Amino acid sequence: MNITIFGTGYVGLVTGACLADVGHNVLCMDVDQAKIAKLENGQIPIFEPGLENIVRHTVEAGRLSFTTDAEKAVKHSSLQFIAVGTPPDEDGSADLQYVTAVARSIGQYMDDYTVVVDKSTVPVGTADKVKAAVRAQLDNRGLELEFDVVSNPEFLKEGAAINDFMKPDRIIIGCDSDRAADMLREVYYPFNRNHDRMVYMDIRSAELTKYAANALLATKISFMNEIANLAERLGADIEAVRRGIGSDPRIGYHFIYPGCGYGGSCFPKDVQALARTADGIGYEAKLLNAVESVNYAQKHVLFDKISHYFRGDLKGKVVGLWGLAFKPNTDDMREASARTLMEDLWKAGATVQAFDPEAMEETQRIYGDEARLTLCGTKEQAIKGADVLAICTEWKEFRSPDFKAIAENIKHPVVFDGRNLYEPEMLERHGLMYYAIGRGRNQFHSE
Ligand SMILES: NC(=O)c1ccc[n+]([C@@H]2O[C@H](COP(=O)([O-])OP(=O)(O)OC[C@H]3O[C@@H](n4cnc5c(N)ncnc54)[C@H](O)[C@@H]3O)[C@@H](O)[C@H]2O)c1
Repeated sequence: MNITIFGTGYVGLVTGACLADVGHNVLCMDVDQAKIAKLENGQIPIFEPGLENIVRHTVEAGRLSFTTDAEKAVKHSSLQFIAVGTPPDEDGSADLQYVTAVARSIGQYMDDYTVVVDKSTVPVGTADKVKAAVRAQLDNRGLELEFDVVSNPEFLKEGAAINDFMKPDRIIIGCDSDRAADMLREVYYPFNRNHDRMVYMDIRSAELTKYAANALLATKISFMNEIANLAERLGADIEAVRRGIGSDPRIGYHFIYPGCGYGGSCFPKDVQALARTADGIGYEAKLLNAVESVNYAQKHVLFDKISHYFRGDLKGKVVGLWGLAFKPNTDDMREASARTLMEDLWKAGATVQAFDPEAMEETQRIYGDEARLTLCGTKEQAIKGADVLAICTEWKEFRSPDFKAIAENIKHPVVFDGRNLYEPEMLERHGLMYYAIGRGRNQFHSE
């Protein structure tokens, strides 16, 4: 099938590449000329394991191509996927300007029956807005073409996006037209060979399903962080508690890792956007608001511990920092906990020497002019001459470091671990103090 994807970011590019991989003929459109130029030169603008390979061979096979030309994109197919960003507005609600801009382009250039598939995460009721924007353009052109709008939220995880897209837990289709539903069934047929993963529902329910999924996952994390903060004050070890509750199949081990807060392009903005949707209809979403505020506080916990260790005097201190991306296996730094920590440290007069296996370019793009940040080529360089070590991202290469070298390189023998990567005894054996999240009485925290 011919398919158009608007937006060539983490979701759009993965979607386009995977749909081309199973045989569809995909044209990816983006307004970012630099991004499209890179892709046309065979470069992948983001780090996502396995993506480069699929893009390369589908481009070579002639099934995946790129454009900045909206007219060409719309005329390419009768299936128009919207995968553009929906960042938070000033008040935290989802900014729909990119989604509606695409809808206008579709209405401006479509010349036959078209299915508009909304893959971006959008508030309930957005399909109606997309419909209205397309219709307004058609009216301007004096045309009465038929079209349908479908909600098809995406659940892929950065870092495992290819596998998630190829073997989805479910494919949600929110739809009020049999014709559109049949086309979507055909698009996704190759992904349903093992068993049918399609879940059909009305459009509003599909839109809400995406927010409900992310809000529940964020709730699990904030819940666990709250218990970790209690554990710290009560002299309990959250890691023992985590194993103790995770063994209950009703709870499970997934998403109950305590840490220095969740970040990324989805959880923070989606929890906020859903809470603002609730505000908009006069419903106070108490739980969502609490999830958000627990996470906000949690992102400052590592700084509090460092500050406490230095008795509030961080002037001139150098913090070696491992991990900048919001999670491992991505270069995405949107809302990353490392950003909060660095900004807190700078405000307090400290400087940072940082290393991340994949997010160095992105850090350079965001903080290129920041004199209080030194970007280091290796994790070893990041601790050389530093006062202490802090860890914000659980990359594999940080899991079993040379503790002896850490002890020899940092001036104060302390590791502040925002991801609970180690057993305290491992560090004690090397004369290192270990401050992690929720691990007993000796943990520093602001009272
Ligand atoms: N990143 C994730 O892990 C993830 C997972 C599931 C859902 N989502 C949702 O998917 C959507 C996209 O997220 P993302 O992370 O891929 O965003 P992104 O910022 O990586 O990519 C968005 C792209 O859209 C492009 N764009 C903006 N306006 C455009 C227009 N008018 N026409 C064509 N392209 C345009 C931008 O230039 C950018 O390249 C969001 O709604 C997000 O919430 C993201």
